[in-house]
Amino acid sequence: MTHPRQAKTSVLFVCLGNICRSPTAQAVFEAQLASSALAGQVEVDSAGTAAYHLGKAPDPRSRAAARERGYDLDNLRARQVSFEDFLRFDYILAMDADNLTQLEAMAPESPRASLALFLDFAARSNKREVPDPYFGGEDGFETVLDLCEQASRGLLMQLQSATR
Ligand code: 4NP
Repeated sequence: MTHPRQAKTSVLFVCLGNICRSPTAQAVFEAQLASSALAGQVEVDSAGTAAYHLGKAPDPRSRAAARERGYDLDNLRARQVSFEDFLRFDYILAMDADNLTQLEAMAPESPRASLALFLDFAARSNKREVPDPYFGGEDGFETVLDLCEQASRGLLMQLQSATR
């Protein structure tokens, strides 16, 4: 029996610079999706609220930490959130409260996208924000990966139950 074709669900991860947290979230979530029942059915992207790093690859520290866990960030390039993103994506997930405030200020009156904090999907975390690792030490990049792995599992479960 063939299944009816479903419109793809789409998720945009957003941080400040789009070179540390949101590219990490994108790669982690894409990896989890690829080995799930939703493989090929979800479009994933990332963007930044700021324009500081447009066109740049993710931070070398994020790339190195991700590579240690088997994620490849090397081909991603930074871009800024655009007005069209609010009409195109189903979910726009912010890494921290500042990012969410910026997104809410940019959003059109009737966006297609639901806006939320990414960590709202993390089941066993009392943290609400993915801390910005840019000005800190190596530990920060491991924390970003830990939180992204945790929240991605929760997001995947939510999308799986929503598309069943
Ligand atoms: P991200 O990290 O928002 O996780 O990509 C940052 C990257 C760059 C800067 C701040 C945060 N910056 O100030 O240049």
